[in-house]
Amino acid sequence: MDKIKIHGGRVLEGKIFISGAKNAALPLICASLLTDETVTLTNMPMLSDIKAMNLLLEQLGTQISEFDDFVDGHATKTYSYRTKSIKSLVAPYDYVRKMRASYYVLGPLLARYGKCELSLPGGCAIGARPMDIHLSSLEKMGAKIEIRNGYIYAESDGRLKGTHIIFPGVSVGATCNVLMAAVLAEGRTVLENAAKEPEIGDLARMLNDMGAKIEGIGTSVLTIDGVSSLHGTVHKVIADRIEAGSYAVAAAITRGRIELINARPETLRQPLQVLKDMGVRIAETDNSIIVDAKGCHLVGKDIMTEPFPGFPTDLQAQFLALMLTADGASMVTETIFENRFMHVPELLRMGANINVHGHASAIVRGVKKLSGAPVMATDLRASFALVLAGLVAEGETTVNRVYHLDRGYEKLEEKLKGVGADIVRIKNDEED
Ligand code: UD1
Repeated sequence: MDKIKIHGGRVLEGKIFISGAKNAALPLICASLLTDETVTLTNMPMLSDIKAMNLLLEQLGTQISEFDDFVDGHATKTYSYRTKSIKSLVAPYDYVRKMRASYYVLGPLLARYGKCELSLPGGCAIGARPMDIHLSSLEKMGAKIEIRNGYIYAESDGRLKGTHIIFPGVSVGATCNVLMAAVLAEGRTVLENAAKEPEIGDLARMLNDMGAKIEGIGTSVLTIDGVSSLHGTVHKVIADRIEAGSYAVAAAITRGRIELINARPETLRQPLQVLKDMGVRIAETDNSIIVDAKGCHLVGKDIMTEPFPGFPTDLQAQFLALMLTADGASMVTETIFENRFMHVPELLRMGANINVHGHASAIVRGVKKLSGAPVMATDLRASFALVLAGLVAEGETTVNRVYHLDRGYEKLEEKLKGVGADIVRIKNDEED
């Protein structure tokens, strides 16, 4: 397994190009299953999760073409998806266990083909993550759902039926899945208490470009008038707000200055406000966010994760690392996932002062210094928090299990090296 080695202490300065959003790209890929025409996605990030989703779709019968492309002078990928005829309606265990978001094939396959067999994703490092909201909503639309042998068997007798659904909890995944099912359903579907994450807006806009009739985009009530078919489109994936927020913290934690090219400030209002409240200077241009912490004295700030537009759970670990370099105490409260402080024991090994209370909150006290250590994390965002700690720690930090980072951070070492970090990837076969 690859590792990342970092020598801390460099002040990061320069520009980082923000890639297309993984969490937008994954449902967008699955939305291509809703039509027999070609859906072309530009500004696609080069990530292992995207490769995994592409393999799943190929297995279902989708023809995929890959092109090298440029967005604002930066190399990206464009992918074309065409599902003229389906080969299989099964998302097998081996695919789903590698990537939970495989569950995004459920809504589209059920809507277009009336059937889908999906391996249950099960829990993961950050929590139990059930699918009850996805399934009860699809049942309300007329699907018959059974769970046996670790699989969800979903079937619909003819088209799904539009209905009024009030989600019992705010779920990004359920909102996307049910939205993709509703666009081809018969009649009107109203989704109340829908998640409002920007990635859902991106999906809804692409579906409308394909001929869907969705209103209320960006609000918690989505109204969808079902259509009988959709057509192809070309769509540019929105910038990754979590990647942008992660590099914003890299600037702040090293007291550096980074311009985040292509980042969208409207998707990051809460995290940017927290940075400002801590003492970081933030400026916005037409196509970038400038995060300037040079010479800044940072003070701690309480944060609490919430569904969008609240503070994102996917930036909790990174901001927790930042709080270690600020003056005073900060309370970090996690309300979305029940097991999302797995980075804390590793940070403690680097000299952090953190007290976790139950599963939901942690008191973080600023420390004079962190010291480098070999560390490993159990999930994607927690791994980035360890990279951040390594950037300011004295001496060498080795982050193990880099495959977590490769799921969600495109060209991580290249981007950090480009702004002055002393970081290198050790390939599996180069060292122990
Ligand atoms: C998505 C994101 C993930 C992010 C999360 C919250 C993708 C691929 N992943 O995950 O990066 O951290 O949103 O912003 O976009 N829940 C239920 N029953 C359900 C569905 C969800 O109880 O049927 C619970 C979950 O366990 C969790 C909460 O609702 O506690 C929110 O989960 P959800 O918004 O669905 O997260 P994901 O879509 O899995």
